[in-house]
Amino acid sequence: MSDAVFQRCIFPHCDGALAADDTSFTCPKCGGLLDVAYDWNRLKPPPALAWFESKWAERSNPLSFSGVWRFRELLPFAPPDKIMTIGEGQTVLQRADAVAQFVGMNAGCLHLQYEGMNPSGSFKDNGMTAAFTHARMTGAKRAACASTGNTSASLAVFCSATGLMRAIIFIGSGKISYGKLAQALDHGALTVQITGDFDDAMQRVQQVSRRLGIYLVNSVNPFRLEGQKTIMYRILEAMRWEVPDWIVVPGGNLGNVSSFGKAFIELMDLGLIKRPPRLAVINAAGANTFHQLYEKNGLRWNAGQPDAKLIDGYYQSLDMEKIRAATIASAIEINHPVNLHKALRALDRCGGVAREATDQEILDAKAKVGAGGLGCEPASAASVAGAKKLRREGIIAPSDRVVCVLTGHQLKDPTATVAYHSADRKTFDDVLGHRGVRRATFANRAVQVPNDLDEIIKAIEVYT
Ligand code: F0G
Repeated sequence: MSDAVFQRCIFPHCDGALAADDTSFTCPKCGGLLDVAYDWNRLKPPPALAWFESKWAERSNPLSFSGVWRFRELLPFAPPDKIMTIGEGQTVLQRADAVAQFVGMNAGCLHLQYEGMNPSGSFKDNGMTAAFTHARMTGAKRAACASTGNTSASLAVFCSATGLMRAIIFIGSGKISYGKLAQALDHGALTVQITGDFDDAMQRVQQVSRRLGIYLVNSVNPFRLEGQKTIMYRILEAMRWEVPDWIVVPGGNLGNVSSFGKAFIELMDLGLIKRPPRLAVINAAGANTFHQLYEKNGLRWNAGQPDAKLIDGYYQSLDMEKIRAATIASAIEINHPVNLHKALRALDRCGGVAREATDQEILDAKAKVGAGGLGCEPASAASVAGAKKLRREGIIAPSDRVVCVLTGHQLKDPTATVAYHSADRKTFDDVLGHRGVRRATFANRAVQVPNDLDEIIKAIEVYT
């Protein structure tokens, strides 16, 4: 690989660096996270964002068809003939006025960036195509991840669609929705279900990958985050290269918000935008480490010197009180986000905020998204629930231009959806009751009708 691309420690006071083809993904000096770094003087950055419009005429070239690689000049780590694309990144920015009304925004001011149209049904494919490409460049034959279900689905799809690598996925037992488990199994991934939750699985997969030399595709891998930057490029593209006021995103392992921050920092450094949008990260209230540390304990990037004692103390208190992550939004059921430091940097540079949303708020928002748009899985709706909260607090103004990222497809987790809309109290209680969800204010209940023509017609007349 060209030495104009390398890996660099994220901490400004540390000069740790690695070659681009190193797969240890840890700073050799301080053990911290790494960025993919580019020597832009030796690469060819685009002259302006509108320059990417020339790619629209090249859709017969898979690299220009891909919603990730058509921006390849902004993630220039792979020679074109090594890029592995399966058509990821065909996403839409939907103007959602009904959802805007629910959030308390003016019509035309709220958009939903819908990532459910990716090949595996979530935003993860943006990052996986980049990690997978890097894996291929390094000659990997096996790739692994710990997952709450979407990373694993994405890896499984990339492995089955390309036949280039074997997927090994670590999941917590009982911690993954059926839609996602189905994908891992159907696409032939070796699925290792360990007793424990995502945080346990994450620790184990790192140990195992190191021991066995397996390529790790979790978001500690900085190449994965390079792909996820393109979600932001596509939003800018859909807004005719105008920067919105806010990007609101659910926070789990904090890979997405970290990559969004890097995208905007680079665009500013390259002089391609004048200001970044503000970033809002929304945790589930049952998995709220970032919200607690950032908003309640005042943890900050602090010019690259975040308060390590504060972080350690917080994790110790979680351990001492045996607090585990618990939320219906299983995708973000994470208490030890691996990208914590990068997320702090992103919020520092983009004037960010963090909030939490209860399972009740998440499911109500999800029902509104479904009724007024393309639909999403519970974790994704945290962004809309969070926007509503920030709007109520007056931090987001009704006329701000807000984009909520819908990270995953509605059909990823039908159990939660059906329970919410169910007319059957037992189904509701069994799935949602123990999560503190008491109401289904926006339920669209199925109507029970006898198999009788007159009764059916009567029901339709009554309800429509
Ligand atoms: N939304 C969905 C649908 C997700 O699957 C995830 C993460 C997130 C949001 C949070 O993104 O981790 O970048 O902050 N899912 C991971 C997984 C953890 O294993 O699929 P993040």
